[in-house]
Amino acid sequence: MQKTALPALALSVALLALAGCDDRSVATAAIPASAAGAGPRAPALSPAAQVGQMVFFDKNLSGGGNMSCASCHDPQYAYGPPNSVSVQLGSDPTLYGVRAVPSLRYRESTPAFDDDAPNPDGVTSNSPGGGFMADGRAATMAAQVALPLLNPLEMNNPSKEAVVKAVQRSSYAELFKKAYGADVFDDTDKAFDAVGSAIQALETEDLSFHPYSSKYDLYVFNKAGGTLTPAERRGEVLFHSTGVTNCSGCHYTGANFNGNSGLMTDFTYQALGAPRNDRSIPNNPDPIPANDDPAYFDMGLCGPYRTDHLPATPGTANPYCGMFKVPALRNVATRGAFFHNGVLHSLDQVVNFYNTRDTNPEYWYPADPDGNGAPRANPGWALQPTHVPGATVRKYNDLPRAQQGNVDEEVPLGTGEGGDKTLASGTQPRAPGATPVMTPEQIADLVCFLGVLSDGYQPPAKAPTTGRCVK
Ligand code: HEC
Ligand code: HEC
Repeated sequence: MQKTALPALALSVALLALAGCDDRSVATAAIPASAAGAGPRAPALSPAAQVGQMVFFDKNLSGGGNMSCASCHDPQYAYGPPNSVSVQLGSDPTLYGVRAVPSLRYRESTPAFDDDAPNPDGVTSNSPGGGFMADGRAATMAAQVALPLLNPLEMNNPSKEAVVKAVQRSSYAELFKKAYGADVFDDTDKAFDAVGSAIQALETEDLSFHPYSSKYDLYVFNKAGGTLTPAERRGEVLFHSTGVTNCSGCHYTGANFNGNSGLMTDFTYQALGAPRNDRSIPNNPDPIPANDDPAYFDMGLCGPYRTDHLPATPGTANPYCGMFKVPALRNVATRGAFFHNGVLHSLDQVVNFYNTRDTNPEYWYPADPDGNGAPRANPGWALQPTHVPGATVRKYNDLPRAQQGNVDEEVPLGTGEGGDKTLASGTQPRAPGATPVMTPEQIADLVCFLGVLSDGYQPPAKAPTTGRCVK
């Protein structure tokens, strides 16, 4: 039952102090701004969630003693990465990860993965949906925790036993026993699973993981300060327009199965054909090292990290290849790397990708559109600043050729009607050179709308009269 919140907060701060966490990231992370902002209404955390909070910030639970969950999922950045790098360094500082770090906010209502999941819109036919990670390979929030702890590219613990030993040596070992039983450390598997369940309790209970404190929330619930500017409102209308942007066709804003709404995802899997994040991109600040191997492809649902939908014979077409989970768009404006491989670095770039992937593939993929080798400058947001002399268009260059037929041609990418999200939609790409579906003004408005999805919004005392999203 709800007692009062202040003691809960004071307790967690005291516990963190006890743990001797005096370094920068833990110090700033001790009181997530939004948890503090949630104020007296925040319910006290259960003992399990209190353990989860200790675990989340404990760098001793990594092979090098230098990395906690919060190192990559920083509470100051909506539990996303604190930088714009595509993929992060691991506890072993010579190794980079293979995917961009997602925000951990609003993950608690993710349904379990199902190949034949119903769509929350109640209209679209069943398709793969749900699950944790970009390929849904973790069944539950608790099971997910084992992946970063034991991944050599992330927290790099040699074994479950090493993790359990570190918990046993920690300042919160007694609290752990209180939550999970005095004999919990007698059984390594049981204790390791308890670490996962503690994190799940934290991510579920702690309001800082789902604060609903954005301007969008004030707007949707008709609260003071929630008036959208004309640009934001135009962006919202566009976001829902089936024929033009179709954004909410996948970034669904209605109620999901848990009754929560406005998460901006239907939890389905789609293949957008994101450009390969490798050294072929001129001036690429952070190519993914794994992509140096031309035979390596991260294909989402069909592997390599998920292993239950692999192509029957390597190199043959498989309808799951290239599919990644539709991400929630809450707090997306606080990110600096977008898509599963972090290849894009601004929202402007993302929306322009949707708009011109088919009409101007030379902006995104190695290509020589004129075929004459003459240099031609692309727009400032393009991934390829100029064309690649002599290259034929290498569209969908982050998928093997056999799998490229899976790439989505729904609006706005192609000509398909909004709402058709079956595996083979049968719709057409937009023709190269055709007029893109969105105007630059519409793109600017959409980006303004995405900006209202950031938590921690404080209505200004006086409404601004100048700025990008005002008029
Ligand atoms: C080195 C950086 C790093 C660390 C440390 C890290 N993660 Fe992650 N996390 C990632 C990346 C990258 C992904 C996406 C992985 C994928 O899709 O395969 C991810 C995904 C997740 C997801 C899935 C979110 C979703 O949308 O499905 C959860 C939950 C999560 N991490 C929790 C944790 C927890 C809890 C810890 C600490 C035990 C942790 N992470 C430590 C990088 C990290
Ligand atoms: C066909 C379904 C679909 C449609 C329509 C769609 N998206 Fe997406 N969106 C996705 C998927 C899937 C991803 C993840 C792709 C990946 O990781 O490679 C994504 C990723 C994003 C991201 C990056 C988020 C992140 O954290 O990296 C943004 C921003 C975004 N979409 C905005 C939009 C906007 C704005 C529109 C409308 C113009 C739109 N999307 C239309 C499916 C869709």
